[in-house]
Amino acid sequence: MRKKLVIGNWKMHGNLQQNEALLSAILRDIDGLAVGVAVCVPFPYLQQTANLLSGSVVAWGAQTLSEHPSGAYTGEVSASMLRDFGCRYVLVGHSERRALFGETDAAVAAKFRSAQVNGLVPVLCVGETLAERDAGRTLEVVRAQVNAVINLLGVEALASAVVAYEPVWAIGTGVTASPAQAQEVHAAIRDHIAGANCNVAQALPILYGGSVKAQNAAALFACKDIDGGLIGGAALVAEDFVAVCRAAA
Ligand code: 13P
Repeated sequence: MRKKLVIGNWKMHGNLQQNEALLSAILRDIDGLAVGVAVCVPFPYLQQTANLLSGSVVAWGAQTLSEHPSGAYTGEVSASMLRDFGCRYVLVGHSERRALFGETDAAVAAKFRSAQVNGLVPVLCVGETLAERDAGRTLEVVRAQVNAVINLLGVEALASAVVAYEPVWAIGTGVTASPAQAQEVHAAIRDHIAGANCNVAQALPILYGGSVKAQNAAALFACKDIDGGLIGGAALVAEDFVAVCRAAA
């Protein structure tokens, strides 16, 4: 049985004061839940997050990283820097990074590698646009996104990683994939990976992301191949985030 995992992605939100209130409230209410919980915060708040969460059951991480170990890459942040701040997770290939910052499948795979080389758990985000779904290309798109990592690193790399299926049309739109729609893609991702390594596929946590709220979380998380959620908007309000975590527990 795979343990459920809920990761909050704050995106570019927060300030020192709000973060402290949010993290304190999450810590207060999360205790004792049988679910893995983490938050991926903006870089400048990693120290604050580490201070508030260290020794707690809530892990933390970043939202992206450089594929390079160090060097003349102004503005970039390396995996070893994230390690310095106690990060456990790092998102790679979030659809906003792919769409707004030109991250290709190859770049995402290189970031994935850099995370793992430095002991971080990469959360590989995959998902189709509405146009791709309407064209019947959903499974082809997500398989290609997963293959970029498998082709570079081998399927075994997925043994210490998380995959997040986030249909682009469901992110921040209030339109959630139905449990059946999400389950179909999660199962297809797992089947695809099982074709290369059954054990890796069975153990791999595959999270769903895209307008997950307290009201729809339980039905999504009840699906066989949905192992938790990657939460945007609802991760910014403590009671909403904790309610989603409860739905996973
Ligand atoms: P929303 O939950 O706001 O739709 O965002 C999902 C997401 O992009 C998480 O990474």
